[in-house]
Amino acid sequence: MKILVTGAFGFIGSNVVRLLEERSIDVILLDSFYSSNFENLSHFKGDFIPGDIREPDIFKKLPKVEAIIHEAAVTDTTLEDDSLMLGVNFAGFRNVLTYCQRRRIKLVYASSAGVYGDLAMAAREEQAPKPLNAYAFSKHLCDREILKLAQKGKRLPFVGLRYFNVYGQGEAHKAKAASMIYQLYLQMKEGGSPRIFKYGEQKRDFIYVKDVAQITVKALELNQPTILNVGTGKARSFNEIIKILNKNLNTDLKPDYFDNPYQGLYQDETEADINNLKKTLKIEAHYSLEEGIKDYIAQLSEGRV
Ligand SMILES: NC(=O)c1ccc[n+]([C@@H]2O[C@H](COP(=O)([O-])OP(=O)(O)OC[C@H]3O[C@@H](n4cnc5c(N)ncnc54)[C@H](O)[C@@H]3O)[C@@H](O)[C@H]2O)c1
Repeated sequence: MKILVTGAFGFIGSNVVRLLEERSIDVILLDSFYSSNFENLSHFKGDFIPGDIREPDIFKKLPKVEAIIHEAAVTDTTLEDDSLMLGVNFAGFRNVLTYCQRRRIKLVYASSAGVYGDLAMAAREEQAPKPLNAYAFSKHLCDREILKLAQKGKRLPFVGLRYFNVYGQGEAHKAKAASMIYQLYLQMKEGGSPRIFKYGEQKRDFIYVKDVAQITVKALELNQPTILNVGTGKARSFNEIIKILNKNLNTDLKPDYFDNPYQGLYQDETEADINNLKKTLKIEAHYSLEEGIKDYIAQLSEGRV
């Protein structure tokens, strides 16, 4: 099997590529290098297509593949350029979707828990979405295309994965858009007080990137339009992360709480209902938050960012 991965040099894309390589699957990479790090895949010896998914011409150059794993997107949720956000995340997605329809190939793409906004958690895929920013809206539009196909009864192998809060190796280039776990780690390893919004009780369903890669590749097995949550099913607070980081770093640093400037645009809690994930894909996250952070810190300590 030959698979094209878009956004391949990004955080999740590069972890997916590494997993495919481990399984000896042929991979072709596509990326515009808008927000990626070449070091994430500096070992890669296969084909790389530099390009922008907004450009229809890029699809004329693609070699034959059996599936696309589509991770490319503008991923800074606080970016205020709606035209760029919608242009890449939705118009770009539609180009990918059209290509997959024409070529009759599989598509697994990255949606987001952002579509749920401030709805009561745990979030179920069947709930009407409530996007609070342009990023979340762009992902909602992508999912809507897939749901339309599902409603029409089309048996097309297109799967949207609503990733919750992903953390792990390969996210350093995301800077302020990187996970809270990475940001707090950076502050605490220098001996600084971890800075979090008042009073650290915001909760997130944090999922380790190694689990996300496994679930993403497994989603290639599905054969009809499907949207699935990808989380652990457990919401954990920022205060808890600080506790786990203190334990792993052998420190006892106290949080420095400050006002949240994104009030109203910010999800106070995310938690995935993972019943559909377990039932449809027969998989769930392997790493607990404690295990994931431990594994991640071991890699960071070896200089693998
Ligand atoms: N990290 C998370 O917690 C999380 C949560 C929910 C959803 N997602 C989604 O997962 C996917 C991967 O996110 P990530 O965290 O790896 O972010 P990332 O920013 O590291 O990766 C995005 C990749 O897309 C590429 N890209 C951007 N615009 C492009 C364009 N026009 N053409 C081609 N490539 C382009 C970037 O260069 C980068 O390699 C995204 O679709 C994101 O919305 C991530």
